[in-house]
Amino acid sequence: MKSTLIRLLLLAALLALVAWAVSLWLNRSGDASAQMPQPITEQLIDKGAYLARVGDCVACHTSHDGGKAFAGGLGIASPIGTIYSTNITPDHKTGIGAWSYGEFERAMRRGIGHDGSALYPAMPYPSYAKVSDADLQALYAYFMKGVAPVEQANKANGIAWPLSIRWPLAYWRALFSPTPETAAADALSIDDAQLQRGAYLVQGLGHCGSCHTPRALTMQEQGLDERTGSYLSGAELNGWAVPALRGMPHWSEQQIVDYLGSGRNSIAAVAGEMKDVVANSTSHMSDEDLLAMAAYLKSLEATGKGEYQHAPQRSQATIAKLTTAKDLDLGQRLYLDNCGACHFVTGQGAEQVFPRLDGASVVNAENPSALIQVILAGAMTPSTERAPSVLPMPGFAERMDDAEVAELASFLRHGWSNQASKVTAAQVREVRAALQHH
Ligand code: HEC
Ligand code: HEC
Ligand code: HEC
Repeated sequence: MKSTLIRLLLLAALLALVAWAVSLWLNRSGDASAQMPQPITEQLIDKGAYLARVGDCVACHTSHDGGKAFAGGLGIASPIGTIYSTNITPDHKTGIGAWSYGEFERAMRRGIGHDGSALYPAMPYPSYAKVSDADLQALYAYFMKGVAPVEQANKANGIAWPLSIRWPLAYWRALFSPTPETAAADALSIDDAQLQRGAYLVQGLGHCGSCHTPRALTMQEQGLDERTGSYLSGAELNGWAVPALRGMPHWSEQQIVDYLGSGRNSIAAVAGEMKDVVANSTSHMSDEDLLAMAAYLKSLEATGKGEYQHAPQRSQATIAKLTTAKDLDLGQRLYLDNCGACHFVTGQGAEQVFPRLDGASVVNAENPSALIQVILAGAMTPSTERAPSVLPMPGFAERMDDAEVAELASFLRHGWSNQASKVTAAQVREVRAALQHH
């Protein structure tokens, strides 16, 4: 009895040792001693600054409590605990100033840290694996010579032992993250130059899929490119519906370009976490690159999931009802009293100023949390170079109770051409509680 137990324990220890040894072998990808292959010029630094915008490095590598750009310390929630982003300024002691090009390459495209152990995929290296050598060299030039060094020690992650052991991550990476070598080969499947550029930006540095692609139980994105049908088919982020980007049948190419470039277009305005993506990243991209991304998104086959269908007759019925303002139900009355001044009885808003509610993704999303949040807390477009003025939408948390917000949201979700499920007071209560928590 006792000897069986000892044998089992020995066997388990042996297996763990083998698994650990194999993980070391898995982490031997890339060449940490590789030197920067070209001289660092002003031009290369500028190019790297642009690419850092595309990659939105600042979003994760800057803490929200007034932290210095790229100095790290932002807590990112994960199922096993909080992961803190690191200092990627060129400070020699606490940042990456002493890193070789090879070490930078391994972290960016292979998810391997300075000490040779695997990084958490909270750093989007499965997407960054697609970044070309030329672009990676420009990024290295920028982070070594274009960013101001900041001395700020990294925070220890809030993950308890044994989950904090890093070596099993090497297996996750081997299973779910492409290597730069395989990723480069995949890119060849598209032959149009503009679409190829768009795919490169969306899949690679843009890491759009990290929010717009649903994840599997083991947390990897269900597909990293168009060869998978669920790629960019919509997901959820902290209770906020993230719309599908496949084909975008409800938007023209130009509307996508305007939205990404300025935070608004003729029918919509950005809200939720996409607001920061626009402010920090896409609004700094060139028209050419925005157009390439839009063309690529339009080229994807729409999945038809939750797709909006314009229904002129139903739209007219809602408009007639609100215009005559007779026998209104509670939701309709609340709309006329509180919302109609800006979004109009047509639900069409005003071009470039007030977004359209008829057909808006946030109104029609299966999960109404984002819609409830906008009604309670309001929203504001970011100020961008292309559209400096901000457009505020007031919050109504003080003016409406849970039942009223539920009636109003239910009206929006089946008014005009919209066709989504009803909202309950309990759903509103939940979102209100979460907002107060923050
Ligand atoms: C979605 C969030 C996110 C984005 C975007 C992001 N990072 Fe990271 N990055 C992280 C996190 C979190 C870590 C720490 C991972 C860990 O500890 O395992 C990290 C780690 C790193 C490391 C390793 C640093 C070290 O000290 O080990 C480097 C280098 C790095 N990131 C560079 C970049 C660059 C350059 C960009 C932009 C092109 C970028 N990151 C964008 C979240 C992000
Ligand atoms: C941090 C998460 C995150 C990332 C990264 C992200 N998005 Fe989004 N995106 C969102 C959310 C959330 C929304 C919903 C915004 C709203 O409700 O107003 C959204 C909305 C959009 C929309 C509007 C769709 C519609 O039907 O209304 C477009 C277009 C879009 N994103 C494109 C992109 C592209 C292109 C990228 C990559 C360059 C990207 N997103 C990266 C979270 C993200
Ligand atoms: C003073 C004008 C004004 C009033 C009143 C107003 N809104 Fe808005 N609304 C806006 C503006 C401006 C935006 C764009 C803000 C953003 O999304 O960043 C907006 C955005 C929205 C959005 C998000 C649209 C999207 O595509 O992301 C929804 C939903 C919405 N409003 C619903 C309502 C409802 C419901 C009411 C009434 C309770 C209301 N609004 C009252 C101006 C207004």
